[in-house]
Amino acid sequence: MTLDDILTAAPVLPVVTIGAAEQAVPLARALLAGGLPALEITLRTPCALEAVRRIRAEVEGCQVGVGTVRSDEDLDRAAQAGARFAVSPGLPPGLGQGPLPLPLLPGVMTPTEAMAAAERGYTRLKLFPAREAGGAALLQALAGPLPELRFCPTGGLGEDDLPRFLALPNVLCIGGSWLAPAAALERGEWAQIEARARRAVAIAAGAPAAPATPGGPSAAGEEDPGAAITEPRP
Ligand code: 3PG
Repeated sequence: MTLDDILTAAPVLPVVTIGAAEQAVPLARALLAGGLPALEITLRTPCALEAVRRIRAEVEGCQVGVGTVRSDEDLDRAAQAGARFAVSPGLPPGLGQGPLPLPLLPGVMTPTEAMAAAERGYTRLKLFPAREAGGAALLQALAGPLPELRFCPTGGLGEDDLPRFLALPNVLCIGGSWLAPAAALERGEWAQIEARARRAVAIAAGAPAAPATPGGPSAAGEEDPGAAITEPRP
């Protein structure tokens, strides 16, 4: 699969920091069941690569990638663990210069960074941190002068952001950690994670993002998976 295939398979790329390798397989199964076949495991915990290995071995249909990649050594380790793709918050000179062992989605935050990445051949980019960088308005502004670029905006986003980002011609999907927060992983709340995934897919398909009850869930990191969504709006 190409990076485009992976990033357009679903509207959301869940970003997950795994606390224990045992969480990996039920997490990936929950996201897959909820309609999200791709996920990014950040290299911020010691068990991250073991989590990738377990998902590759046990969860058919899941496209697992590695995030928070900072060096070519990280890329090699990710590829050896079986990752399908890699994501970085930036694109420093020492990252991704040689032949890549797996597709890389580097991060940018400004027009100059996006143009420098494109000069190096990277036209699929993570906009990070997306909210602070300017969000959907920034991406809309970039679509005119840099129409060949495609983005996965990530950082500070939640399900409410899906409609406005996905309406842009240069957005492949949006990334975010709200689907599988650390507390949910620790408590093994797989059904809730699946429900969050299902809800995000429904919102992306046009269902209203607002919760059914006042004060209910809708923003990143809140507890309830959001039972408000039943059917996508026609
Ligand atoms: C990250 O690498 O932390 C991602 O960009 C996730 O950002 P978020 O936690 O704000 O969704």
